[in-house]
Amino acid sequence: MSVRLFLLLAFSLEVFRCELSGRKAASVISPAKTLVWGPGLEADIVLPARFFYIQAVDSSGKNLTTSPGEKTFEVKIVSPTEQFTRIWIQVLDRRDGSFLVRYRLYATYTDLHIHVLLEASQVAKSPYVLNGAVYHEGCDCPQPSGAVWEKQMRCPESFAQITRDLSLYAGVDPDQNSQEIPKRFGQRQSLCHYTIKENKVYVKTFGEHVGFRIFMDAILLSLTRKVRLPDVEFFVNLGDWPLEKRKPTDKLHPIFSWCGSNTTRDIVMPTYDLTESVLETMGRVSLDMMSVQANTGPLWPQKNATAFWRGRDSRQERLQLVKLSRAHPDFIDAAFTNFFFFKHDESLYGPLVKHVSFFDFFKYKYQINIDGTVAAYRLPYLLAGDSVVLKQDSGYYEHFYNELRPWEHYIPIKANLGDLLEKIQWARDHDEEARKIALAGQKFARSHLMGDSIFCYYYKLFKEYARLQITEPKVREGMELVEQPTDDLFPCSCNRRTAKDEL
Ligand SMILES: *[C@@H]1O[C@H](CO)[C@@H](O)[C@H](O)[C@H]1NC(C)=O
Ligand SMILES: *[C@@H]1O[C@H](CO)[C@@H](O)[C@H](O)[C@H]1NC(C)=O
Ligand SMILES: *[C@@H]1O[C@H](CO)[C@@H](O)[C@H](O)[C@H]1NC(C)=O
Repeated sequence: MSVRLFLLLAFSLEVFRCELSGRKAASVISPAKTLVWGPGLEADIVLPARFFYIQAVDSSGKNLTTSPGEKTFEVKIVSPTEQFTRIWIQVLDRRDGSFLVRYRLYATYTDLHIHVLLEASQVAKSPYVLNGAVYHEGCDCPQPSGAVWEKQMRCPESFAQITRDLSLYAGVDPDQNSQEIPKRFGQRQSLCHYTIKENKVYVKTFGEHVGFRIFMDAILLSLTRKVRLPDVEFFVNLGDWPLEKRKPTDKLHPIFSWCGSNTTRDIVMPTYDLTESVLETMGRVSLDMMSVQANTGPLWPQKNATAFWRGRDSRQERLQLVKLSRAHPDFIDAAFTNFFFFKHDESLYGPLVKHVSFFDFFKYKYQINIDGTVAAYRLPYLLAGDSVVLKQDSGYYEHFYNELRPWEHYIPIKANLGDLLEKIQWARDHDEEARKIALAGQKFARSHLMGDSIFCYYYKLFKEYARLQITEPKVREGMELVEQPTDDLFPCSCNRRTAKDEL
């Protein structure tokens, strides 16, 4: 048989098989048994990108565990009172039998109807009706009662990290802190001093490099559009490194930071990177906790069993990692895309390589997570993929590390990478176990690191912190009002009933 003929045959066979499996899958999925759930089906859960899930279930009641095809389900969102709605919808195939549906509203609507369709049939309890006003992200319409909002959002009772961070304080004194903290840190560090008063945001900055303030402004404005915050006054560290190095037995200054460490006492918040990706999902960012779920590369058996890493030279161990990769290319593919901190010696660290799309990381089974200047802020996205994470032991942590367990959610490696090759070998020899860890990490990310959890975390943090204040938070001299954006194309009218009416 000629090569061409063989290829042709193979090709048509492949097409035939695809069609068959496509048709077969669609016909076995039960629209009635398929599951649909999530925060995006509720009017009151206002998020920059609202989202919900579909789990395909067959007629015998079994969950599908592989993709029935990207276009299996169709989602339409309509408003009975408007002919055209400005809503952007995406159905993301997670390729494990489940789908993540996300949509962004560009205006506020009343009584939205969400139709989830399998061919022409309504799925599960579709259409889902979101009664009343369905506010869009830009609408300044805070729920007056924090308690009501928390309940609507289904926020957890507590976050272990917040409890731990705040346990160091019997009380905080805004009057005193407003004097002492700028004196102690304001010259050499970049800080923001915030006061939230009557649900308005005021700020004064200290230091030279205050560009990162935009992330903090953005989350505070977004939060105050959704829920009325208690009056609260606090300092945010805009730098990479946590600042409070005193022992708990000395007088501590409460500083909010994006990264914590074993040797400091800062109060941690979700990183600016994760925060921005929540606020800008289906907006300015392309990498976020939702897009990553639909871009996890080949299925596990087809992933390359080399450990993968790309990044810049922001820490000594990263240099070691690349050296190790050059000595053991059969184990590790690690290379620099950027050199900035150290002198670049090409004979030791090889040439710089082209930037790789984050989604392409998931062509590999093993992902190495190694500190940069501080914790590597890519960990949420790595966990959300379906590769297993090899995480360097580190004194640096983000707001959720406290809840991660080694060998359950990731494979631990020593801070000096001394056991990295050994751990890769272990993963290769224990493929089933490695896969289980990959899935547990993924499950953690799916349930703890989505937008709703991030908003809950910030809210709880400010609420709990506000309770500790022993003097009145004040708008201090030199503070300016941070205004809500006024460039919204579709202004909304806010008609929330007050908390009293809810009772
Ligand atoms: C099917 O999927 C749903 C949604 O993820 C899950 O809650 C349920 O436990 C799964 N059922 C089985 C039998 O695995
Ligand atoms: C796996 O990845 C390594 C490093 O990127 C590469 O050299 C190797 O050819 C890949 N193996 C396969 C089977 O594609
Ligand atoms: C930091 O603290 C954590 C939790 O106590 C510990 O597991 C880890 O080994 C410590 N790491 C370093 C490098 O100090």
